[in-house]
Amino acid sequence: MNEQMRSAIEACEAFMAGRDDALAIPREAAEFVHALVTMRGAARGLEIGTSYGYSALWTAGVLRDHGGCLVTIDMEPAKHEVASRYFEQAGLVDAVRCVQGVALDVLADVDGPLDYVLIDADKENCRAYFESVVPKLSDRAVVLTDNTLTHPDELAAYLDWLRGRSDFVSAHVPVGNGMEMSVYVGGQG
Ligand SMILES: C[S@@+](CC[C@H](N)C(=O)[O-])C[C@H]1O[C@@H](n2cnc3c(N)ncnc32)[C@H](O)[C@@H]1O
Repeated sequence: MNEQMRSAIEACEAFMAGRDDALAIPREAAEFVHALVTMRGAARGLEIGTSYGYSALWTAGVLRDHGGCLVTIDMEPAKHEVASRYFEQAGLVDAVRCVQGVALDVLADVDGPLDYVLIDADKENCRAYFESVVPKLSDRAVVLTDNTLTHPDELAAYLDWLRGRSDFVSAHVPVGNGMEMSVYVGGQG
């Protein structure tokens, strides 16, 4: 993480402070995700839910260092515009592909293989997002689902279903808003 990226992260944090429409992952969760994509050697990433670009700012540089990039999806054009400015400020324009659209409409156009996925948009479609990315995952890909602590009721059925899958090893990580970390083991786990 270079100084240019750190400074863009701090600018994004300052912008989001006090805004009630900025529901980014907290810094401690961002640091966890940053360490995770580094450890996995992830190159090709997907984020469902860009918002103002905060979580993307923590991962896109690592993915680029590993030879890949991040595709990030959000349906709100105004957020896209702001996020794109932070990516530019961070020197990450070539590391991020911003897709503006309703996730279920555009996910089919995202190419695999994917090493890292963050599901952080509307909760009711988490299972559909997960099912849509599974065929595109690389071996040992990591899929993170955010908000396990803040939205336990909305995510309960999804998490039960997810934890019952034999092709993933899943663990709850009580960091930030709570994350379910699911590692793809291709049916051998
Ligand atoms: C919690 S925020 C994402 C925060 C971001 N991952 C971060 O940590 O900086 C959720 C975002 O998902 C977007 N969103 C919600 N439902 C969506 C959908 N069906 N398709 C695309 N984007 C959606 C919202 O516009 C919002 O910006």
